[in-house]
Amino acid sequence: MVLLNPLPVLLWVQWLFLVPQVASAQRQAPAPAGLGEPISDRDRVYTGDQSSNTITVVKPSTNEVLGTIALGDSRLSGVIGPQYIKAVNAHGMGYSRDGKHIVVLSVTTNTVTVVRCADNSIVSQTFVDRNAHEAFFAADNRTIWVGTRGVDRITLVDGIDGGVVGHIPTYGGPSKVLFSPDGSTAYANHIRSPSLSVIDVESQTIVHNITGLADTFSSDMMLSADGRRLWVAHKMAGTVTVINTDDYSIVGVLETGAETNHPNFVEVNGTTYGYVTVAATNETKVYTQPDPASPPDFLTSIRATGIEPHGLWPSADNTRMYIVNEHTDTVDVVDTASLSVVDTLDVGQEGQAIVYVSNAVPEGDGLLNLGTQGLRGRAKNKLLSVEGGKEDAAALITVRDQNGLDMFQIIGRKLLLNTTYVAAAECTSCGGVEVPLLEFNATMPTMDGCGTAPQVLAFFKFEDVYDFDSLRVYEK
Ligand SMILES: *[C@@H]1O[C@H](CO)[C@@H](O)[C@H](O)[C@H]1NC(C)=O
Ligand SMILES: *[C@@H]1O[C@H](CO)[C@@H](O)[C@H](O)[C@H]1NC(C)=O
Ligand SMILES: *[C@@H]1O[C@H](CO)[C@@H](O)[C@H](O)[C@H]1NC(C)=O
Ligand SMILES: *[C@@H]1O[C@H](CO)[C@@H](O)[C@H](O)[C@H]1NC(C)=O
Ligand SMILES: *[C@@H]1O[C@H](CO)[C@@H](O)[C@H](O)[C@H]1NC(C)=O
Ligand SMILES: *[C@@H]1O[C@H](CO)[C@@H](O)[C@H](O)[C@H]1NC(C)=O
Repeated sequence: MVLLNPLPVLLWVQWLFLVPQVASAQRQAPAPAGLGEPISDRDRVYTGDQSSNTITVVKPSTNEVLGTIALGDSRLSGVIGPQYIKAVNAHGMGYSRDGKHIVVLSVTTNTVTVVRCADNSIVSQTFVDRNAHEAFFAADNRTIWVGTRGVDRITLVDGIDGGVVGHIPTYGGPSKVLFSPDGSTAYANHIRSPSLSVIDVESQTIVHNITGLADTFSSDMMLSADGRRLWVAHKMAGTVTVINTDDYSIVGVLETGAETNHPNFVEVNGTTYGYVTVAATNETKVYTQPDPASPPDFLTSIRATGIEPHGLWPSADNTRMYIVNEHTDTVDVVDTASLSVVDTLDVGQEGQAIVYVSNAVPEGDGLLNLGTQGLRGRAKNKLLSVEGGKEDAAALITVRDQNGLDMFQIIGRKLLLNTTYVAAAECTSCGGVEVPLLEFNATMPTMDGCGTAPQVLAFFKFEDVYDFDSLRVYEK
């Protein structure tokens, strides 16, 4: 006797109706409203921490920092020694759409590292051209397109087996590669050309060159969930070129502010919101852009709890934006409905990029292979008026503990071009006498004729030797 069990039929009918939802539930962030999965225990947020040379792994359902994946030693311990063979300077990040892998770029050793999200193990490491900065997996969940800023071509890597599988020439030091939602088109920005290459993925050829961007230097950019808005950030100029990918037109230029870092998007209440981190003013600016063919409108600014907000990525359900504060080693969790910071997490040192991956750990706790490198507590920061020269000249000094030495960093702003400056502090362990710590030149010209010193770095024992409060910077 053959009896048709009604249950499978029922399930089958349900499945028929559920198919579109189930398939689209695979959407990674930024995802169109309603199509990404709600934040769950299976999701992870990852930051690329340049100084501790780690990836920090966060569980967004509880906002717990689970640990870090070390790609090598932290700055500056072994890394300049002749025997050192590991990666240096974890920086950019991308993911595969199936949520199984992330890619992290080491800018100093030109390393493309692929990590398995389920157990934090390293799947492959490939050495590519100079300054591998940002990369993304193509829609095949396997091939990685790498923006290598030191050369005039993109490198294609097999993320699973490792190895270079191709190159695509594009002039001007490609900085980052992104793919359209359907995977057929890739976009590459540059650091030495005010142009953006539109590349047909299948034929690996440039099909369009968007010229006339607001600045020559663009390190980061982002596509909205529907792929129709492309915001290209210009860190040195403090602007964002807004492109409509329907016809590759430039619909506007946003004057966002000094040290503009990364853009990203959420869809809330039926509108697309563009967020841009502006590092020099410790804020993330929020714009609305309902129509990709019209320029965005400024809405509000979200003040960071920390200093120098850099990378940012939303959850797939559009309810949260995670923003890494580069100079305080923290991540702010922003509620996208109230546009306010609801939590702050301590992560690895000097976070650059951040990504949100849905369903990264489908089962288990995902704690394998995690350590604590870089989770050393907060960095100290001090914003100083610079003595001599221009009236509004300023220097941000950051001191963080690293393996027996301290990393001493200065960002000099509104300085006199090609002028030499000195940072000094009182030496508490030598009777309070003021000691010059280092000299630097403001060699990076700005549009208004000033000079900046974007990243002055030194490593020495600062804590317990010098008085942090006595720090000053003056023209030599
Ligand atoms: C890549 O992953 C996405 C999301 O899970 C999936 O829809 C797609 O079919 C995968 N592509 C390949 C070639 O496996
Ligand atoms: C795009 O146009 C710019 C400006 O004309 C040019 O310098 C660049 O080489 C072009 N890029 C490509 C890939 O042809
Ligand atoms: C950024 O943060 C630093 C350190 O807290 C602070 O001194 C400075 O005033 C902030 N800058 C702005 C523009 O808010
Ligand atoms: C979205 O709508 C809700 C309910 O009206 C409101 O509370 C919230 O502030 C809105 N959020 C944004 C970002 O517009
Ligand atoms: C500043 O110095 C750089 C290199 O030291 C030099 O190339 C440039 O011409 C100088 N600029 C000015 C305005 O002196
Ligand atoms: C600053 O520039 C001067 C003049 O070019 C040069 O002699 C000096 O070595 C530079 N100092 C630093 C710290 O680079």
